[in-house]
Amino acid sequence: MKKELLQAVNDQINLELASAYLYLNMSIAMTAKNVNGFAHWLKAQYNEEVEHAEKLIAYVQTRNETPELKSVELIAVGDDAPLAVAKNVLAHEQLVTKSIHNLRKMAVDHGDPALEIFLNWYVTEQVEEEENAQALVDLFTFVGDDKSLMFAADGKLGSR
Ligand SMILES: [Fe+2]
Ligand SMILES: [Fe+2]
Repeated sequence: MKKELLQAVNDQINLELASAYLYLNMSIAMTAKNVNGFAHWLKAQYNEEVEHAEKLIAYVQTRNETPELKSVELIAVGDDAPLAVAKNVLAHEQLVTKSIHNLRKMAVDHGDPALEIFLNWYVTEQVEEEENAQALVDLFTFVGDDKSLMFAADGKLGSR
């Protein structure tokens, strides 16, 4: 693999792990507010992001290269109202999508069709990630300040 591509994949591994860390942080914040279903959803999302990082690590190794881990940024949760958290999940996923698209474009520009094809999985995955995040925003927007709707919505998220 070309050096620039390996570095860019290393950056993506770091972003996936930073995403995992962010969602774990959000999960802890939701547990502290007794929004336990959403906390469970976020914990599952944390595990998915770790898998995204592991899949990239394994791919780099398949290409007979050595992935390099970096310090993982702890992104602050900020406003911990469930709707605000859901909006931040969506914004974060949109950022990840941009990063995947940039990385895939780099693979094309550097003439690495194998990496390009591998990254297609992530392109498709991001469509799903954004759809799920948008569904969260829609759910908590619908709930508003209604406590019984919040109870039902949180229970639904707890069954993920
Ligand atoms: Fe991811
Ligand atoms: Fe994600």
